[in-house]
Amino acid sequence: MYRILDGKAITLGTCYYPEHWDKTLWKSDLERMMAVGIETIRIAEFAWSKVEPTEGDFTFDFFDEFLDLAEALGMQVIMGTPTATPPAWLTEKYPDALNARKDGTLFRHGMRRHYNYNSENYKRLSAIIVEKFAEHYGPRKCVIGWQIDNEINCEIDEFYSESDDRAFNSFLQDRYKTLDVLNDAWGTVFWNQTYTDWQEVHIPRTTVQGTVNPHQTLDYYRFISDSACRWAKMQADIICKYKKADDFITTNGIFGHVDYQRMRDESLDFITYDSYPNFAYTLGGYDKSSEDFRDRKWSRNLSEARAISPIFGIMEQQSGANGWNTGMAAPTPRPGQVTLWTMQSIAHGADFISYFRWRTASFGTEMYWHGILDYSGRDNRRLKEIADINDKVKKLSEVAGSRYAAKVAVLRDYDNIFDAELDVWHGTVEDKSYNAIFRAAQKSHTPMDYVYLTDGITGKELSKYEVLIYPHMTIVNDKYLPALEEFVRAGGKLIIGCRSGYKDMSGKCTMEYLPGKLKSLTGNDIPEYTAISPDAGDVYIKWGKDEFKASAFADQLLATTDNSRVIGIYEDDYYEGLGAITYNKLGNGEVYYYGSAFNEGATQVFLKNLGVIDPYAEFFELPEELELAVREKDGKRFSFILNYSRKPQSMWLKKELREMLTGSLNTGEVVVDGYGVQIYELQVYLDFKGNK
Ligand code: GAL
Repeated sequence: MYRILDGKAITLGTCYYPEHWDKTLWKSDLERMMAVGIETIRIAEFAWSKVEPTEGDFTFDFFDEFLDLAEALGMQVIMGTPTATPPAWLTEKYPDALNARKDGTLFRHGMRRHYNYNSENYKRLSAIIVEKFAEHYGPRKCVIGWQIDNEINCEIDEFYSESDDRAFNSFLQDRYKTLDVLNDAWGTVFWNQTYTDWQEVHIPRTTVQGTVNPHQTLDYYRFISDSACRWAKMQADIICKYKKADDFITTNGIFGHVDYQRMRDESLDFITYDSYPNFAYTLGGYDKSSEDFRDRKWSRNLSEARAISPIFGIMEQQSGANGWNTGMAAPTPRPGQVTLWTMQSIAHGADFISYFRWRTASFGTEMYWHGILDYSGRDNRRLKEIADINDKVKKLSEVAGSRYAAKVAVLRDYDNIFDAELDVWHGTVEDKSYNAIFRAAQKSHTPMDYVYLTDGITGKELSKYEVLIYPHMTIVNDKYLPALEEFVRAGGKLIIGCRSGYKDMSGKCTMEYLPGKLKSLTGNDIPEYTAISPDAGDVYIKWGKDEFKASAFADQLLATTDNSRVIGIYEDDYYEGLGAITYNKLGNGEVYYYGSAFNEGATQVFLKNLGVIDPYAEFFELPEELELAVREKDGKRFSFILNYSRKPQSMWLKKELREMLTGSLNTGEVVVDGYGVQIYELQVYLDFKGNK
């Protein structure tokens, strides 16, 4: 078991940059960390030049000296590989290592992540430095794991260098084998784009109005993901040769154009997420009137991390104000907010929380990005809060190793995520539904997971959920259909939203009757569809006694089999009286096709009518403002109640329950302080599906 996720304790860490500080500070810094319960540090992820100051000239003394000290003091260390920041000597000598804008302008030295994954020189030099790091530092006792690169695809997730251009060409040759197949997949007969020689095939380039071939772009996003995955694997394979058996490999953050399920399977033991909820309070962009969830929205990101690794770590947890001196500013977290955000991470499945960063840099682009300590390094309020958090997490050791418990999951897949990025018809409904389903689940206290469909997924894996929502399965990947059908036939309930089933894997529209390949699941037909016209006013849907608004789109539905029927109808515009929701009984389960995009109202009706809303109602009566997250282990459930607002919130406990942080037995009306968190152990045994 990895030392930071051993299922026995929730542990704390911090990010430390020995290269930023005078060596005389190192010892007391480490001792002060340990005094507040920080047992693990991550180092070195931007420090290539400290080990290879000039090409081929390696010196390990700097980190050896630091690691000697860490080892003597009993501090555990996660080593970063330094490839997110190539040295100046490297990019000067090998400019092909640089990423470029679409117009070919190179991104120069001075920022970070300005390299590309496909330059032969950069791959070669990176492999060497990773090997040197792993070979030299891997055997050290204090090293417990490795972080590959830093935030792969952060800051920029598109690549237009010449190396990428060539690599994209090879990627396509592998994928399509012949130009005829590529021409067909990309529909190049349209607007005379037909290719007659592989030499003519490029990454997307500057075009009139920036409008591109959508099928090419879909493949381009797949290519970026492929490049990022190959990049991580190249490093993981090297680290594996040298790391100690129990040491782990991770990478931090979740960013665009990466298939994390593939990256996890090929290269990672688990993902670590970087959680910065204070972005919700960014000075420039703060909209007072917004009903936004603000920092509560990070629960969605944490749920995404959980979809990659059910139990994960936080490599960078916000501990101070945001600030790049070139842009971005946010206030210092208020008293209690760092605790709240830490508990938010734990509530969603993190068992390791490492704060960014120990000391605030007094120089450089990030000199306003505050860590735990300010510039002077004096003891401060935030350090005290970390010490207090440490006392709290010690009381939560039973929670370690437990998994977030949800009856409902939203299905996702990368083909559709990538397709929705360029395609405004698809993207509009996808964005609306993604936000609304999360918000509806949060407000109704219905814990929810994300599940990514991957090749080989089975209905059995899905059947731990009672209800699955696949909001817009626009592109249908045949490989997922058997699992969906198996899930439904075994008794599962599947909800599919509008605009589903109309594209193939190239992103081309099907000429079949809609919803194309989904027809046998849904038992319906969609003879007509439309975006809801901006002059239509509100379009309502009636489903039994429930009435709610449609959003964005209106697929007009017919039931087509003996087992299917229309259960919801539109009440407005020219499609008034036509089918808005169909129901299909399939085996022991049910498939609902919903002809619109999800909004909060529609989602709550579905959750209610399918019997999964607010599954802990027998214990709690909670206002919408409080989040409920539940983790489960060995039949025990730990329910986290989080208050993101400054104001105290009242809730009602219907049974006497033990609050784990205070040990008190509570019942009846209970107040959760502003930014407060309460954690209740649920004594009643509930199985995974919530049955007693
Ligand atoms: C993260 C990054 C850190 C630091 C932090 C604050 O995205 O991994 O290195 O830059 O943000 O900006």
